[in-house]
Amino acid sequence: MTVPFLDLAATHREIQAELEAALHQGLEAGQFIGGQGVSVFEREFAAWCGAGHCIGVGNGLDALTLALRGLDIGPGDEVIVPAHTFIASWLAVSQIGAVPVPVEPEMRSFNIDPDQVEQAITPRTRAIMPVHLYGHPADLGPLQVIADAHGLPLIEDAAQAHGALYRGQRIGAHGRVVCWSFYPGKNLGALGDGGAVTTSDTALATRIRMLGNYGSRQKYVHELAGCNSRLDDLQARLLSVKLRHLARWNARRQDIARRYLSGLANSGLSILPVPQDWAEPVWHLFPVFTPDRAALQQFLAAEGIATQIHYPTPPHLQGAYQTMNLPAGSLPLTERLHREELSLPIGPHMSDDQVDQVMDAVRRFFHTS
Ligand SMILES: Cc1ncc(COP(=O)(O)O)c(C=O)c1O
Repeated sequence: MTVPFLDLAATHREIQAELEAALHQGLEAGQFIGGQGVSVFEREFAAWCGAGHCIGVGNGLDALTLALRGLDIGPGDEVIVPAHTFIASWLAVSQIGAVPVPVEPEMRSFNIDPDQVEQAITPRTRAIMPVHLYGHPADLGPLQVIADAHGLPLIEDAAQAHGALYRGQRIGAHGRVVCWSFYPGKNLGALGDGGAVTTSDTALATRIRMLGNYGSRQKYVHELAGCNSRLDDLQARLLSVKLRHLARWNARRQDIARRYLSGLANSGLSILPVPQDWAEPVWHLFPVFTPDRAALQQFLAAEGIATQIHYPTPPHLQGAYQTMNLPAGSLPLTERLHREELSLPIGPHMSDDQVDQVMDAVRRFFHTS
């Protein structure tokens, strides 16, 4: 039996009739930009997160960029970001002319270490951007305390955390503004690009909506130099369908993660994720760590088990950030995670037999079974 990394086709087969009905309604409505499908989804997703407002945008990177612009952050400003993240978190900051200032992770949830944030703050710092990587919430409480002490907003990158709980409350309404991606493989994914921003700050919501719509709230009146980044009506309708299934799909991911965590406890891996007491993660990814990553990945591939690496090269060592002068060795924890990380298959349509097959193969690799 082969084990795909994520079986998206199975997800769509399960709800095919609902998706087709939603597409049919969208075609009938015929308003593909700014249609009712978008406003309905925005209302549903805001309510689901417990946020006052949701603004649909073109993708997750735009969600971050628009949130930063919405807060009037720009050239000459600094934004504190996790060193260990997908590069989009940094690129959003660079795109508006500001400087990403990386902070190392704490090694329990692999998210930004609140204990190291304060020393990264300078007079130019304008925001702190935690990322809920792998679907595990960052420790927002201490981050908010630091943010408040310095008068800074928290801009959350929740691209991997749809439905995750921080101290019992869904991600989406903790920080000043929360940014989402609906890239197809996300826990809540569109059938193409999509993104959103949630916030309970009404003035900020209005400004972000304008910025993504040519700086306009009234046709042909342009108050701001905005851009075009909107969620398509058809994608919004498909997202509304998938949102109805998200809690159940996340619960299945949590079930698989529990099986992995007990079955792989003494398997020879150097680090396993440990859900922290503040968090109920939704396991967008299931990361494991070993210095023998390349060999383990090859061994699993030979067994028909697909894995991925998140991520092979940290942002500070990418060509895009060579001018930042952060050579190899400057962010050692991040670099270790990037050297050793391997994501095992996980998804709502993975069977127990497939999970057992993965665990058995990992144990055989390390000769622990
Ligand atoms: C942590 C993180 N931030 C931002 C993004 C950007 O989202 P998108 O691909 O929708 O632009 C992604 C996903 O791709 C992500 O994983």
